[in-house]
Amino acid sequence: MTTAKTDITIRHLAEHGGELVTLRGWLEGGRSSGKIAFLKVRDGSGVVQVIVSRKEVSEDAWEAAKGVTQESTVEVTGTVNLDERAPGGVELHATEFSVLFLTEDYPITPKEHGVAFLMEHRHLWLRSSRQRAALRVRSEVCQAIRDFYYERDFTLIDSPILTPAACEGTSTLFETDYFGDPAFLSQSGQLYLEPAAAALGKVYCFGPTFRAEKSKTRRHLMEFWMVEPEVAFLEFPGLCELAEEFVQYLVGRVLERCATELETLERDTAVLERYASEPFARTTYTETIDFLQAQGQEIAWGDDFGAEHETLVGEHFGKPVMITHFPSAMKAFYMQPDADDPKLALGLDIIAPEGYGEIVGGSQRIHDHDLLLRRIQEHELPQEAFQWYLDVRRYGSYPHSGFGMGLERFVAWMCKMSHVRETIPYPRMLNKIYP
Ligand code: 4AD
Repeated sequence: MTTAKTDITIRHLAEHGGELVTLRGWLEGGRSSGKIAFLKVRDGSGVVQVIVSRKEVSEDAWEAAKGVTQESTVEVTGTVNLDERAPGGVELHATEFSVLFLTEDYPITPKEHGVAFLMEHRHLWLRSSRQRAALRVRSEVCQAIRDFYYERDFTLIDSPILTPAACEGTSTLFETDYFGDPAFLSQSGQLYLEPAAAALGKVYCFGPTFRAEKSKTRRHLMEFWMVEPEVAFLEFPGLCELAEEFVQYLVGRVLERCATELETLERDTAVLERYASEPFARTTYTETIDFLQAQGQEIAWGDDFGAEHETLVGEHFGKPVMITHFPSAMKAFYMQPDADDPKLALGLDIIAPEGYGEIVGGSQRIHDHDLLLRRIQEHELPQEAFQWYLDVRRYGSYPHSGFGMGLERFVAWMCKMSHVRETIPYPRMLNKIYP
């Protein structure tokens, strides 16, 4: 008798047609008649249909197959049968079947559940097919981010999470006690990357970021992941090119490596192909205000865009849009003014279409010491806390630029998920931190 292979995962079953394998996993669902059971088994790498035929297995195995419940842990041995009609082109004809753990009353059933209920059961909801697909896309995007910068000779600089001062405004800081002094969870690694760019030229950080935003929207998390490149001697036009090349690379990688997941998510891939290959639309802040006013929106020059404005802009162009040249007054203290019109900042936002809004924010940085000091004072930031940051402009100052991209917003857009909460394993949202 042939011994069954035990080291093959469902993902690779199709490479083992005709072989006998043993799998362990969980029962997603199934149906059985008096003679035959069709069971969907998941092992973490994929799902396969297992066919248990009464006359081909022992009485114990048949009883086990008949009585198995949703999300029970199971072990199955069977022959791999390649069949084009089966999902994934493969099914398993069981010779043995046993239940390792019989699950009772699994809370998430195939019927519709409300989001509040699913969020309370996030630890179990992860097992559902859409959630699995989104988390795999996330994992692929993380890998692609690292590959993109690695292939271009960037050095990874891990910026600290506990910080003594704000980067992106003081209103969204999570404060904690640092041996009697206040410390804040990082809102951005940027300030720490700028000195590192003078040491290593091209650097990036990629890690968790915290914003105590009192926003309950489908685009906001309290804890999200941000990737931030920072490049010495890169000026604004080069920054725009880098951001476009980066976003297109990531879309391309998702298309290339996540075909199964995009299918599960019913994502229109033709549209993604277009985003990956066509140049992004480019416009300025002022042109965008004119456009929005022409659309009947109540918005004035100097106002920030709201979600509905970003959606309108995205819809108008039907592809990612790079908006540049914002009023300095509405942007962060560190943005370089435009030489032709100093009331404008050399900042850029990338708006994702299909209602996903801003996914990238960046700028050229002020490299003149006295101007930066003035901006710190105007923004009423604690000057002592920024001495080290000003040092970058005291010793070998140099023009430099960078941007930040929110991972969850990007993944939500790729997956066409209606809310960023489904793109991170355990979302942290306004007043919600369970589980
Ligand atoms: O535009 P932001 O605030 O830029 C910065 O933090 C700069 N310091 C980055 C840099 O230049 N190095 O944030 C960048 C991106 C946004 O475009 C968005 O994708 C994401 O971070 N983001 C959020 N994502 C989820 N939830 C939130 N609350 C977010 N806030 C920002």
